[in-house]
Amino acid sequence: MELAATRNLSELQTAAFDVEYVTDELWQTLLPALTPHLDRPSRFLDVGGGNGLFVDRVTNAFPQSFGTNVEPARNLVASNRIHSRKNLVSATFQDADFVAEERFDVIFFNWVLHHFVVDGYASTVACQKAALRKACSLLNPNGAVFILENLYDGRSIDNLPSRLIYGLTSSHLLKSVTSRMGANTAGVGVCFHSRRGWNRILGGAGYPVRRFQPCYSYGELSPLRQFALHLRDTRVCLIVASPQ
Ligand SMILES: C[S@@+](CC[C@H](N)C(=O)[O-])C[C@H]1O[C@@H](n2cnc3c(N)ncnc32)[C@H](O)[C@@H]1O
Repeated sequence: MELAATRNLSELQTAAFDVEYVTDELWQTLLPALTPHLDRPSRFLDVGGGNGLFVDRVTNAFPQSFGTNVEPARNLVASNRIHSRKNLVSATFQDADFVAEERFDVIFFNWVLHHFVVDGYASTVACQKAALRKACSLLNPNGAVFILENLYDGRSIDNLPSRLIYGLTSSHLLKSVTSRMGANTAGVGVCFHSRRGWNRILGGAGYPVRRFQPCYSYGELSPLRQFALHLRDTRVCLIVASPQ
């Protein structure tokens, strides 16, 4: 399955991701949902798993599991600790090849789908869908994708913030302005979505959503910026979907 190449972030940009995003509260939400999938000899894939701390956390919680981190940023790959039950693939998810016989019980997309950006908004949405379809082909029959994302719900036009943020951050012309405004992805772009937006993308990729759980509020933007971006609410959300 050949997928369009995504725009690459520079090492300066990815250095900001060398942190652990999954809070203890979120981990407590994830743990019981993962148990039926991983509490036995099992395999999981963390797409864009960065410094690997999340893979280490999952493998430690589930001693019979084996984790793979597929991560393109060399600086983040280098900060992974060696773990006997962790495999590192230094590539984008789009470029990575996986052994057909070794399917996964869980595929995580923790704050990574919004980085699957190409030229043009519609092509970017198609690229996100294509990645989810690729994940579908890599899952075991009872497998599931676990997605953590920041939801950007619009005030009256539901997915307008998605288009505005994509337009501003992906523009080469506006790069110096968006960068000064604090956008770490300036000149490359990000493509977040509203709750309904993700539902449409997952539906289009062939996944019924099994669980949609809004978690804590993601209040990084000032009220003025929220207004300018037409935002009603920004919230971290857990989505669990499986093709079966
Ligand atoms: C916001 S960080 C999240 C890191 C990690 N998943 C976490 O939750 O801590 C986004 C990650 O996605 C990676 N990434 C960006 N584009 C990617 C692609 N096409 N394939 C795989 N990973 C990608 C980045 O290098 C970065 O590590």
